This record gives sequence, C-alpha cells and structure tokens, in this order.
Amino acid sequence: MARSFVIAAAIAAFGLAAVADTSLAQGTVKIGFIIPMTGPQQSTGKQEVAAVKLYMAQHGDTVAGKKIELIIKDDGAVPDKTKRIAQELIVNDKVTFLAGFGITPTALAVAPLATQAKVPEIVTAAGTSFITERSPYIVRTSFAVPQSCVPMADWAVKNGIKRVVTMISDYAPGIDAEKSFTAEFVKNGGKVVDAIRFPLANPDFAPFLQRAADRKPDAVFIFVPSGQGSIFVRQFVQKGLDKAGIKIIGPGDVVDDDLLNGMGDQVIGTVTAHFYSADHDSAVNKAFVAAFEKANHGMRPNFMAVGGYDGMHLMYAALKKTGGNTDGTALVNAMKGMSWESPRGPISIDPQTRDIIHNVYIRRVEKKNGQLYNVEFATFPAVKDPGKAAEKKK
Ligand code: PHB
Repeated sequence: MARSFVIAAAIAAFGLAAVADTSLAQGTVKIGFIIPMTGPQQSTGKQEVAAVKLYMAQHGDTVAGKKIELIIKDDGAVPDKTKRIAQELIVNDKVTFLAGFGITPTALAVAPLATQAKVPEIVTAAGTSFITERSPYIVRTSFAVPQSCVPMADWAVKNGIKRVVTMISDYAPGIDAEKSFTAEFVKNGGKVVDAIRFPLANPDFAPFLQRAADRKPDAVFIFVPSGQGSIFVRQFVQKGLDKAGIKIIGPGDVVDDDLLNGMGDQVIGTVTAHFYSADHDSAVNKAFVAAFEKANHGMRPNFMAVGGYDGMHLMYAALKKTGGNTDGTALVNAMKGMSWESPRGPISIDPQTRDIIHNVYIRRVEKKNGQLYNVEFATFPAVKDPGKAAEKKK
C-alpha cells in the first residue's frame, strides 16, 4: 500500500516534471499577427507590419531564451476570416500570442477564442472602448477612441467653437467618438446642431458635407478610420466648407501621418487631438521615425505603426518578466501595470482594465521643411479611457 502510494506519487511528480520539461524545451514562442494587408484597411496592415518588423530587427528574435517566430496573416479586415485564422493559429500553430486586429469587429471576433484558449490577444490597432471588456485575455496597445475625443471637446469650447456638426463612420468606434465628444462638449456649454452618420465602406461624403454646411456650424467634428482622411478632406474642400470658415476638428485619425503630406496646404491650421504625431518631440520618437523611414523607403510612421511597435514591446517585456513562461494567464498578469517610454511618450497598461494609458496632445497642422506635420502644442497627461468611466457611472 505504502509502496504503491510512493510509486503513484513518483509518477505524478515525474509526470508533472515531464510536462514542465516539455514547456521549457519548447524553445519557440509564436506570435500570430492578424492584420489587413488587403482591402480598404490595408494601410493599417502596411504600417503595423513595418513597425513590428522594425521592432524585431532592433531587439532581436530571442527573449528569455526563447526564439520568437512572427506569423503574419492577412484577414482583409473581414471578421469571419479573422476568426478562422485565429482558430488555426491556436490549434495548429499553438501560438503564444494573438496580436494585431485592424478594426473593431475583427478584434471582437477573436475575443471568445482568446478566453477559451487562454491566449493573450494584444490589440494593436482597433479603438472602440469596450473591446478590452470582451475578454480577460485582451490587452490593448493602440488606443480607445474617447481618449482623444474628450480632450478635443474641452479644447474646442475653450477656443471659441460653440456650434458643431458631428460626422462619424457608422460603426462602433465612430459611435464612441460621437457620444464621448458630444457628452463633454455639451456639458461645457457647446451645442451639437446635427449628428451625421455615414457608412464605413466606400463613403461618399459629399451629400453629408452639404447637409453639414447648411447648418452653418463653427466646426465639423469628424471621425473616419485611418486611411479615409484624404478623401474626406478633398470633399470638404470641394464643397467649400473651408472657404465658409468651417473648421475640421476631431481625433487625429482624419489627419493621419500616413496621408497628411498628400492632403495639400488647405489642411494647414487644422487642430485635432491624438496620442501620436510623427513630429512628437522626444529622443525616442526621433530615433523611431528615422529608423522606420530608413527601413521603409521613406514611409512616415502613423499612429497605427506605434500601436504595433508598442505591442511587440509589451509581448517581449512580458516574456522577460515571466522568465520565458508561456502560460497565457501569467503573461497577461505580467502585462498589467507595465510602463515604458513609447515613441508617443510615456505609456502604461491600466492594471484594472488592461487598456493603454497615454498622453493626448492637441496638435495643429503646420508646414516644416516643406512637409506637413501635426505639431503638438498642449498635453493632457496620462489619459485613461473616459469611455469606461462613463459606462461605470450609468
Ligand atoms: C476601429 O475599427 O476600431 C478603428 C479603426 C481605425 C481607426 C480607429 C478605430 O483609425
């Protein structure tokens, strides 16, 4: 009896040791990076892939004794595809991390899988507030849309903008933008004279801009996702809203660094609120922009690139902290409360919400050395997602 107990205990111990051994012997950590490389959101994929590759070129492909293998998959920003790819990456490739997600619906599609498989889902691009609440395995290095919209509302009222028409892409982050801006703007005495929503796919802004112009607002508050800003600005100018003295305000997605230089001098003077400008004045950012442009034929990094770059840092740092332990729960716990200096400025991961905390800057488009940049002139420090606070108060 005593002997068989000892043997059983030994087997149990050996069994556990064997399991532990295999996990240690597995020398590779796979990152499944799912991002749109084709379709209307492909600029996000192009920017993010360039950034994650740069991060690896700068920091090597070995962390805590493990070899990092990056598997990049194009989902075309189609949620069903994202889900199928994530399933394959979990089951066949046995990835340690899932990362990327160019738009909110694709990040949401993977949330139940991350929970079930206990695989960290690092959201490096999508921005709807509630994404991080959809799985305890989601950690975000991109942004929450309301983080930029609330400071924008504060600045607008203080700077003589009293009547606004809001215009948003009609899907979750746009609605987040509309609601968070409007609540703050109205609270401070501003008036929203019309709220316009247009489809996400292939928007023709012209009829909506006509409607906005007819209301004679001081400004149009606009949210479009990264990649659509130039079309909006072109139609805004074609419809003569700039000549009528109507300003463009909003989160910085519309004056995306990726497209800004092609927008023409009519955007000079446009004031937006956002967490990243390629012009951000810090040594870390200057080095990042120079290295990014060098590695990508002069392409300027935008805020999506920074989300991807910081996502890589988060995964590397978490692995270092766990000593190479690839358990999903241990990795997410390691990420909570982490802080570092990003090209966007100082950032941290909120230990309660697993969302990013970053500075939001008020910026004005200016010409510098013949190029258009969003030049930061005021800072709202360490902004937590106000969208989550608003939800809690309800
Ligand atoms: C989103 O779908 O969450 C999203 C995409 C692009 C942006 C902002 C939000 O620029």
